[in-house]
Amino acid sequence: MNAIGKTDFFAADTYSRFPLVAERGKGAWIFGEKGEKYLDFVGGLGTAAVGHCNPQVVKAITAQSKKLIHASNLFYSEEQAELSELLCSISGLEKVFLTNSGAESVECAIKTVRKATGREKIIAFKNGFHGRTMGALSLTWNEKYRLPFEPLLSGVEFAEFNNLESVEIDGETAAVFVEPVQGEGGVVPAEKEFLKGLKDSCEDKQALLVLDEVQTGFGRTGHMFAFQKYGVTPDLLCLSKAMGGGVPIGAVVGSPLEALKKGEHASTFGGNPLACAASIAAIKFILKKKLAEKARVLGGRFIHKVSEIAPSRGLGFMVAIEAESEEERGKIVSKAFEKKLLLSKAGKKAIRIMPPLVASEKHLGQCVKILESVFSRCKS
Ligand SMILES: Cc1ncc(COP(=O)(O)O)c(C=O)c1O
Repeated sequence: MNAIGKTDFFAADTYSRFPLVAERGKGAWIFGEKGEKYLDFVGGLGTAAVGHCNPQVVKAITAQSKKLIHASNLFYSEEQAELSELLCSISGLEKVFLTNSGAESVECAIKTVRKATGREKIIAFKNGFHGRTMGALSLTWNEKYRLPFEPLLSGVEFAEFNNLESVEIDGETAAVFVEPVQGEGGVVPAEKEFLKGLKDSCEDKQALLVLDEVQTGFGRTGHMFAFQKYGVTPDLLCLSKAMGGGVPIGAVVGSPLEALKKGEHASTFGGNPLACAASIAAIKFILKKKLAEKARVLGGRFIHKVSEIAPSRGLGFMVAIEAESEEERGKIVSKAFEKKLLLSKAGKKAIRIMPPLVASEKHLGQCVKILESVFSRCKS
């Protein structure tokens, strides 16, 4: 049996997969078993900001793996200390809790807002996505993901994204959880006035504003963090994905973490030195190569070009192009795959385009050409 047969036989059947056994990666490219080369504009689902097998990340992992892979949070670690300092410095926030994934960051944030405010009510948004663990799932809108697992966390209310009047923040509200750009929901950017309004209402009622930047963080939207573009500082920031240069790691950043006392939250692997070393290398690479600025400039031009093919939207290197129907979208993504361009679905009819931030103008041009041809073929 090959890898596809073995996986289908032995692994839980929870993923829809392309018929590609990804064997190797370099920059914006993924290579299959026979050496076939795919332009990866799924971008490792947003994790491959610094490119696949980024040499600086590989160097950091190699060096760290020879020193110490894991000791536990019973001890201090130089790498954890440096990463925590770096996250505070690039976000302007204080205090860090290191996790292993996006959902874990959201779980930590849920506990933090409950502990810090002594309140239960959390407001999240229609079409929002925060992960699949029970707490994070409770804040995730899509009923297909949620309904089979109810009852979930009590006290969660969903409001309309980009509609301030639908958001009822009151004296019972612990926090509002929001993505600055809804990613899984179809790449829908928040309006500036909406985020500002949420911040003001939260301040007014002493509730906390939690920005889930698991997908938008680390340069994706053309700024290190999307909140810096909006000029709306969160109380807590949830991070993961691009943070580790491909290695699993996440974080919650913000002073409300001070509410958690010893033993009230923990993670065996959270902040392990190998992942921290990878993350430090990835973040320094993003800063040194000014990848956020690059995504802002090239992303703006790219969105303009894809808009000429079909209605498009996005920020930086986080882009969606709309198909006319779900069926057409499926065909477009399959045809693009045949032409060796990797794309993923988001929202109802959108195709999500998330190039690694190291993708060049030439790569973006290749993507536009393939999109032009697959859109016209799927329409005819
Ligand atoms: C905004 C957002 N939050 C949380 C998550 C969950 O992250 P993970 O899959 O690492 O648990 C995701 C994943 O796509 C996400 O996009």
